[in-house]
Amino acid sequence: MDLHTSSIADLPAAASSILEFAGTNRILLFYGDMGAGKTTLIKTLCRQLGVIDGVTSPTFSIVNEYAGTAGPVYHFDFYRLNNQTEALDMGYEEYFYSGNYCFIEWPEKIAGLIPDQYTGIRITVIDEGSRQITVENI
Ligand SMILES: Nc1ncnc2c1ncn2[C@@H]1O[C@H](COP(=O)(O)OP(=O)(O)O)[C@@H](O)[C@H]1O
Ligand SMILES: [Mg+2]
Repeated sequence: MDLHTSSIADLPAAASSILEFAGTNRILLFYGDMGAGKTTLIKTLCRQLGVIDGVTSPTFSIVNEYAGTAGPVYHFDFYRLNNQTEALDMGYEEYFYSGNYCFIEWPEKIAGLIPDQYTGIRITVIDEGSRQITVENI
């Protein structure tokens, strides 16, 4: 599925399309350069899942946990991960195989640990305000 957003105002509609398209997939991987809009899209998805706490990049930890209406939502940012062993050490499996939503920034860093089924989302900057968002179910 290909989505196009002309501004941040288009994100709520894009987020609901993504959740619907993902279906029963709970692992969502977010690919895109720094500043592409991964965290911003995750914030919008979280809001639609009923998260009311502040969603920010997990700067001081690898994972943030938020309370959604239908259960916890896990938000990972693997940007600062040095190696996959660090993901094993933080117990990534407990999260990935919990059945709860896992929103993952920089999945490239844990390529060997990605579950068989997931929804991949690639965000490409078109210009300052607009983005191309490509979504596929694997
Ligand atoms: N869909 C979008 N359309 C326009 N601007 C966006 C969009 N998503 C994010 N931005 C802007 O881009 C900047 C970086 O977004 P961020 O979500 O932090 O990127 P990332 O997590 O990919 O590094 C923010 O200033 C944000 O306002
Ligand atoms: Mg980010």
